Amino acid sequence: MSTIHVPVLLKETMQVLVSRPDGVYVDATLGTGGHFRELSSQLDRSAILLGIDADPTVIDHCKSNLNISQKHVYINSNFESIKALCFRNGYPKVDGILMDLGLSSYALDDPLRGLSFSADGPLDMRFSPAIGQTAANIINYADLTDLIQIFQDFGEERFSKSIARSIVKERQKSAIETTGRLAAIVKQKAQAQYVNKTLSRIFQALRIAVNRELDVLQKALVDSVSILNPEGRLVVITYHSLEDRIVKQFFKHESTSCICPREFPICQCDHKASLKIITPKPILPNKEEIVQNSRARSAKLRAAKRL
Ligand SMILES: C[S@@+](CC[C@H](N)C(=O)[O-])C[C@H]1O[C@@H](n2cnc3c(N)ncnc32)[C@H](O)[C@@H]1O
Repeated sequence: MSTIHVPVLLKETMQVLVSRPDGVYVDATLGTGGHFRELSSQLDRSAILLGIDADPTVIDHCKSNLNISQKHVYINSNFESIKALCFRNGYPKVDGILMDLGLSSYALDDPLRGLSFSADGPLDMRFSPAIGQTAANIINYADLTDLIQIFQDFGEERFSKSIARSIVKERQKSAIETTGRLAAIVKQKAQAQYVNKTLSRIFQALRIAVNRELDVLQKALVDSVSILNPEGRLVVITYHSLEDRIVKQFFKHESTSCICPREFPICQCDHKASLKIITPKPILPNKEEIVQNSRARSAKLRAAKRL
């Protein structure tokens, strides 16, 4: 594995993630281990680290290349099961959880993963081979209405209908199996000045659908709060507005004690705040970081602590 992911918002992440240097910490999106290694360097020898990733190749990379001085464990699994994974490994409660969402640069740069429209490869897009359906399954077998919905909901694409119709017409000639062929179909329906934006939105939408990214994130946020010790931190770095909206709304809901409609004179919901927001506004990378690492340009970091 030649490409090493440059960790995004590294210093800012550590500032909000570490509450106690001898605690138990989970990096739920290990990637090539940049955040994990830095976290290790900030903690006492007695701390515990758990690194989770759905992608077996990055787990192998971390096993061979990271030199972590604390007790640690690498877990090849989906963070959707974060609660069960921590419990099974003997840590039912933890002091910090990091989610740096999306793809590792390694996966993005590998044409065989089918995640990029710039390189031709099989239409796969799974974060993990354990996931049942590929992007090709969706493109070739989803109903027209489902395709439109995917492009609208997960890509916020204005031309979802015409693109989906074109895909359905093309797949009748022969199955659409490669990123190159899908990109060519999408390009024909995109406005000339927005070709790359349209391709990004369609590929993002498909990737979200294949990996059920938004449902997985929602569940993982709920379960993360349930396993945090008081003062423990939940830190999430997102790369697009759909993810950021979920994190923002979740933090708002979980940091509000009463969620009754305003007109109720007395609280009837019994909802108790479980989080305190540490970042009232998301932390964004500075210009210098964006120049050095273009992938950081859309990053937003939000953090909260367990009450
Ligand atoms: C942006 S990279 C993380 C990079 C990492 N912070 C670093 O410093 O190298 C995101 C990683 O999260 C993993 N991932 C995404 N969704 C996941 C999920 N639901 N469960 C487990 N891993 C996931 C991807 O496979 C990818 O390796």
